[in-house]
Amino acid sequence: MAQLITLVLLLLACMLSNALGSTGLSRINLVSTTIFDVTNYGAKGDGKTNDSPAFMKAWKAACEAQPNDRSILVIPATKTFLLKPISFNGPCNPSSLYVQISGNIVGPAKKTDWIGYHIDAWLSFSRVNGLTVSGNGQINGQGPIWWENACIGTPSPGTSCHAPAALMFRRCNGLRLNGLTHVNSPRVHITITACNGVIMSNLHIIAPETSPNTDGINVASSTNVNISDSIIGTGDDCIAISGGSSDIKISGITCGPGHGISIGALGKGGVDMVENIEVRNCTLIKTLAGVRIKSWQGGRGYARKISFKAIKFDAVYNPIIIDQYYCPTQKNCINSTSAIKLSDISYSGIMGTSNMDNVINLSCSESVACTNIAMDNVYISSVTPGRKVFGKCINAHGRISHVKPLFNCLKPN
Ligand SMILES: *[C@@H]1O[C@H](CO)[C@@H](O)[C@H](O)[C@H]1NC(C)=O
Ligand SMILES: *[C@@H]1O[C@H](CO)[C@@H](O)[C@H](O)[C@H]1NC(C)=O
Ligand SMILES: *[C@@H]1O[C@H](CO)[C@@H](O)[C@H](O)[C@H]1NC(C)=O
Ligand SMILES: *[C@@H]1O[C@H](CO)[C@@H](O)[C@H](O)[C@H]1NC(C)=O
Repeated sequence: MAQLITLVLLLLACMLSNALGSTGLSRINLVSTTIFDVTNYGAKGDGKTNDSPAFMKAWKAACEAQPNDRSILVIPATKTFLLKPISFNGPCNPSSLYVQISGNIVGPAKKTDWIGYHIDAWLSFSRVNGLTVSGNGQINGQGPIWWENACIGTPSPGTSCHAPAALMFRRCNGLRLNGLTHVNSPRVHITITACNGVIMSNLHIIAPETSPNTDGINVASSTNVNISDSIIGTGDDCIAISGGSSDIKISGITCGPGHGISIGALGKGGVDMVENIEVRNCTLIKTLAGVRIKSWQGGRGYARKISFKAIKFDAVYNPIIIDQYYCPTQKNCINSTSAIKLSDISYSGIMGTSNMDNVINLSCSESVACTNIAMDNVYISSVTPGRKVFGKCINAHGRISHVKPLFNCLKPN
């Protein structure tokens, strides 16, 4: 009985302090939440008016709020906001800043609307720490106007045509991105560069299978990035991890149509270093590659401590591939004795079907061996019942156990 009374008293004390806490009375640091609704700053949300100036005003106010405030930039539901290329830059005063996207955001419908802007990115966030971008809204990059010819007007001789990324984050530490739908980017849908401590989840990234260079998510020069529980089908890489990235965890991704989940292409710019990458519990459907590590000939640096676990393939063309001869145009491909060094690469708990007969292709550099490759419980068969499949290697070292197709081209470490 006495115990029961103590428990009830404890519970009451708890509830009381919570109640006081939420009114802020018992806090020393008062945190107030301020909402910056873009429609209060002049945004029309009619899908026709350029709402960029209004968004910029709302962003400035949210970014310049008191350091102890929590700023929420609200993009309300049921409206469509047309934005010209826009950069949301920090540093900002509040230690956490939320962008709540419930409505739709669309890009310019004509390429001429881009004259005078940088072609790098449509929506970019730079140097904003503690940023959360979330909601169930949609971001539409109007990609089709770029897909046939990425140039604006007539290309001047010697210039390369380049379509913009839809959403770019640069130097945003502690970034959270979740819940949104991203469609039809001109180029990559989401790019993360030089960010540390990122969580991305519950994203839906969609573009037609035939759209060019429309990767889902690119991660470059970033550390401690977790990407989970998302559906990505864009016709290109679902996720690509490039140089300077480490401690990346990818899980719960359904990928396809597209080119699969890639590390690389590494080595094009010279030195690249990538390590501690885990890809777990992902399903790839009818993709051109499944899980791939690709590097150009002639780079330096390494990609190491990479693991692929619990992966399912459904009619994938090249399920497991290491390609150190990457050269997509097959023009002016260089032939070099230097290469990115690949080591400590494991594949475990992998199963499914392939549309091709060569289901495991470990093509390492002829001069720089891949070492310590481990395969356990890997079972890949043909989509055509009874058809024989095989594995192939160049200069790959490691061991296999419980692998079908059984292949014997791996050399000892
Ligand atoms: C990512 O996940 C790992 C393991 O679950 C965890 O240790 C790490 O803190 C996570 N990173 C972030 C940014 O939350
Ligand atoms: C694997 O990913 C799916 C989403 O594709 C998710 O529903 C499931 O909970 C995940 N399982 C584990 C064990 O993480
Ligand atoms: C394996 O990959 C290499 C490198 O891309 C390629 O040249 C080769 O044709 C592939 N092998 C097979 C049998 O598909
Ligand atoms: C690359 O160079 C090496 C050494 O000179 C040579 O053996 C090899 O055949 C060359 N490969 C290609 C694809 O040209």
